[in-house]
Amino acid sequence: MDAILVRGNSPLRGEVPISGSKNAALPIITASILFERPITIENVPALRDIRTLLDLLEVLGVRARREDHTLHIDASELSGSEAPYDLVRRMRASIYVLGPLLARLGEAKVSLPGGCAWGPRPVDLHMMAMERLGARVEVDHGYLVAKAPPGGLVGGTITFPLSSVGATCNALLASSVAHGTTVLENAATEPEVVALADFLAASGVRIEGQGTRIIRVTGTDRLVPERFSIIPDRIEAGTFLAAAAITGGDLRLIGCRADHLDAVIETIRSTGSTVDVGEGEIRCRGKVPPRGVHVVTAPYPGFPTDMQAQIMAVASIGTGVSAITDTIYPDRFTHVAELARIGADIRLEGNTAVVHPVDGLSGANVMATDLRASAALILAGLVADGETKISRVYHIDRGYERIEEKLRAVGANIERIDEEGP
Ligand code: UD1
Repeated sequence: MDAILVRGNSPLRGEVPISGSKNAALPIITASILFERPITIENVPALRDIRTLLDLLEVLGVRARREDHTLHIDASELSGSEAPYDLVRRMRASIYVLGPLLARLGEAKVSLPGGCAWGPRPVDLHMMAMERLGARVEVDHGYLVAKAPPGGLVGGTITFPLSSVGATCNALLASSVAHGTTVLENAATEPEVVALADFLAASGVRIEGQGTRIIRVTGTDRLVPERFSIIPDRIEAGTFLAAAAITGGDLRLIGCRADHLDAVIETIRSTGSTVDVGEGEIRCRGKVPPRGVHVVTAPYPGFPTDMQAQIMAVASIGTGVSAITDTIYPDRFTHVAELARIGADIRLEGNTAVVHPVDGLSGANVMATDLRASAALILAGLVADGETKISRVYHIDRGYERIEEKLRAVGANIERIDEEGP
C-alpha cells in the first residue's frame, strides 16, 4: 500500500496548475445516464473517485472512454437500474445515480451509502426529493428502491429543510427529464450545483435561478449533448493556498476561479498572508508564523467543510489560539488525533477544535483517515521538523490529481513509497 513521505523544508515557490473539480465532475458524469446519445466532458480530473463512478456506470451498461482529461460517455445502451453495495460503499457520491436512473428507466435500486469516517451520511432528502416528483421510495434490505409513476416523473415543488449539495443535484438530475416544471426551494448554491445546472441548461433543459436558493426546472424529453468543460477545483486551489500560507511560500495557482473561494481567501488573508487575485489565477505569499483563525464551516458562500482540515493544519503552527467549528459535519475531526502526533495542540469541544500555539511540529508516522484529512497531514508534514510518513494515502488519490508531483514541482521534499516494498 502506498504511503507519502514528506520532509519539512523551505517555503514552496512557483506555479501550480489547478485541475477540474471532482465534486462538479461527479454529478455531471452521472447526468450521462439521462442521454440517449454520447456526451463529451472536458477538464475531467484523473482521480480514483471518477474511476469508481465509471466502474459503477459500466455495471449499468454505460460505456466511457477517456482521452487525457476528456471523457466520452455513451449511455445509449443503459441496461441496469441497480447500483450494488460493493461499488456504492467505495464512494458516497454514487447516490447521484438515483435521480437519473429513476427518470430514464422509471426505477432505481441503489444501495444505501452508509456512514463514513466522520459519521452518518443520511439520504432522507434525496428520498424526499424523488417522492415530490411522484416516485415511491422505500428502503429494503439496505437498498433504496424507487419507482416512478406509470407515466414517468412529474414536476413538483421540493422544499429542502436544510441546504444539501447532494440532494439538490439529484433533484436537478431527475427534474430535468420530468414532465412539467419543478421548483427547488432552499436549493444548495455551491459552484458545483451551478455547474451541473449549467451543463443541463446547455443540453436543452430550461433552468433558472441556479446559484440562488430557488431553482426552476422545466423538464425536456429531448436532451441535446453539448461538449462541456468542468470548472476548476476550488478545494484543490484552497489546499494549495494553505500550502503557501503554512510554508511562508509564494505560489501562483493557475486556472482557478477566485470568485469561488471568497471565504477561503479571506481566512488565508486573516493569517497574515497576502493573496492577490488575477484573471484565472491567484497568488498567495504566505507569512509565517500565521496568525490564529476563527472559522465556522457553512454552506456556500461560507467556509467549506472540505477545507476545514487543511486550515486546521495552518492554524496548528499559528501564533494565537484558533477556533475551527464544523457545522456541516460535526464529527469530521478524525485528523485532530493525527495532527497531534505531529505535535499540534488541538482540543475538541463539541464540534469546535481549539488549536493552541506550539513551538513547532515534529515529523512522525501518521495515518490518513479520509481525503481532506490526508491533505491536512501533508500540509503539516511540509513544515514539521524531520520526516512525516502518511500511511493509507489511497484516500488522497480519491480527490487530488498527482498531488505529490504538483508539490514537488514547487519545491516540496515529498515522495510516494510502497510501504510493503523492499
Ligand atoms: C458536503 C458538502 C460539500 C462537500 C461534500 C464532501 C456542504 C453544504 N456540502 O456535500 O461541499 O464537497 O460534503 O465533503 O458543505 N443531509 C441530510 N440528509 C440528506 C443529505 C444531507 O440530513 O439526505 C445533511 C448532511 O448530513 C449534512 C448537510 O445535510 O449535515 C449537508 O449535506 P450535503 O450538502 O448533502 O452533503 P454532501 O452532498 O456530501
